[in-house]
Amino acid sequence: MKGVVLAGGLGTRLHPLTKITNKHLLPVYKKPMIYYPIEMLVDAGITDIMIVTGGNSAGDFLRLIGNGKDFGLSRIHYTYQEGEGGIADALSLAEEFTEGEKFVVVLGDNILEKGVREGVSAFEKQETGARIFLTEVDHPWEYGIAEIEGDRVKRIIEKPKDPPTNLAVIGVYMYSPDVFDMIRKLEPSARGELEITDVNNMYINAGGLEYQVLDGWWLDAGENHEALLQANITVARSEGADV
Ligand code: DAU
Repeated sequence: MKGVVLAGGLGTRLHPLTKITNKHLLPVYKKPMIYYPIEMLVDAGITDIMIVTGGNSAGDFLRLIGNGKDFGLSRIHYTYQEGEGGIADALSLAEEFTEGEKFVVVLGDNILEKGVREGVSAFEKQETGARIFLTEVDHPWEYGIAEIEGDRVKRIIEKPKDPPTNLAVIGVYMYSPDVFDMIRKLEPSARGELEITDVNNMYINAGGLEYQVLDGWWLDAGENHEALLQANITVARSEGADV
């Protein structure tokens, strides 16, 4: 299976840290943020990876990651998202790369304690559709939130003012190649973006969305300054640092 890491967008919520560099190049403990999703894919056996960059300092990704030698890779693919058209817009740039196969997408600011190895093998057995991962959060209004009915997701609401649950959809998504047809049908949301939540709701309506509850902690390190600080502390502690 192939993997796509989304590291576009302007990261304006982290100003002034992101005024002259890209959010995904900021440090999380000992490594730049983007290292974590790449390492996670490689750890799950995914070695054919595309990074979608954008915004500031896109050239620095090449200087930092090169051909992926530090990750045990012999090559890595890059593309560039113009503007900040949303997660689904960034994903649309990976259509040719994925060559009509199922694939995994990770947001470049997401860090998972236990990775996605198990989720990848579950998706390998899933014939069609998409797969998402849910976890309980304290601030549900900051995420895509899932409403559950029995063993299926009824709908997902992006950053709800009045959250029906505290089950957040994390930034790891597994898709069949029909996702690109769905993206072509999207209209920009109120914030002017092509929303990944709208894509996932299309899968729900087509009866093709599976979910599993995530094992271990999850961090959206790029959400805001507090989340970035918390990510540094959590990762440092997980590696034995006395902080
Ligand atoms: O982290 C999980 C959350 O990510 C989900 O619960 C939400 O449903 C989903 O919409 C998303 O919410 P955020 O508001 O946190 O997304 P954000 O704008 O921070 O973008 C997350 C990553 O997606 C970012 O690190 C890079 C990539 N991205 C984002 C945009 C807007 C792009 O590559 N291009 C873009 O245009």
